[in-house]
Amino acid sequence: MNHQNNLSHNHLRAFQPEKLTPPRKFTIPEALQRETLKQPLILEIGAGKGKHALSFATENPDKHLIAIERTRNKFEAFHRLFTQQSLDNLTPVHADAIAWVVHAIAPNSLAGIYILYPNPEQHNPNQQWLNMPFFEFLLSRLQPEGKIILATNIEAYIDNAEQQAAKVWQLPYSRNVVANDSDRTHFEVKYLARNERCWQLTMTKPEGYLTRFDHWQMIDTF
Ligand SMILES: C[S@@+](CC[C@H](N)C(=O)[O-])C[C@H]1O[C@@H](n2cnc3c(N)ncnc32)[C@H](O)[C@@H]1O
Repeated sequence: MNHQNNLSHNHLRAFQPEKLTPPRKFTIPEALQRETLKQPLILEIGAGKGKHALSFATENPDKHLIAIERTRNKFEAFHRLFTQQSLDNLTPVHADAIAWVVHAIAPNSLAGIYILYPNPEQHNPNQQWLNMPFFEFLLSRLQPEGKIILATNIEAYIDNAEQQAAKVWQLPYSRNVVANDSDRTHFEVKYLARNERCWQLTMTKPEGYLTRFDHWQMIDTF
């Protein structure tokens, strides 16, 4: 089957990775350069103060997590905790995730992606992750059968994400309510303590899924 003909995202304005300059002081993390890195690579976008990243890396010694946070004070809090632990399977990154992923991540290389409680962007829905042309690029970095896990406390956000996953990105997904006692991130703890409902969308990249970036990589990076 020619999957590409069925993909409605081909009608969307394409993301333009070549226009993105590298983040300030950009270098490829040592973990990504290790030829011996055999561990599945997981990415977290918007890691905040790193609560999920630190516990994920502790609980999954067989995986390597790259956790990116853009806001300086949050990243510094995360980095302080990181330096107090010796986790060689966690790489904290202070950068904008879009530019960083473009410059650092090879196609078909991620086993999973976490986006936990992203900024709601209610007044600027174009900035919601599944509404962005970048999402196609992100899918190109995921391995077949890799998963994207998105959580939010905003019902309109999860409704829109679900619709985009089904109609635009044509991804198999499941939608669940987050358990009341879940405590993966600081925002999750805060929302559940206020008795707010939180949702999770788990999307899977099917075998044979095609994007316009499957062979695109930053020249000289890899
Ligand atoms: C609402 S907070 C949630 C933080 C954490 N995931 C949690 O649940 O506690 C969203 C975070 O995403 C970060 N963020 C938003 N856009 C980003 C981007 N393009 N690259 C990296 N981080 C980003 C923000 O700085 C913010 O810390």
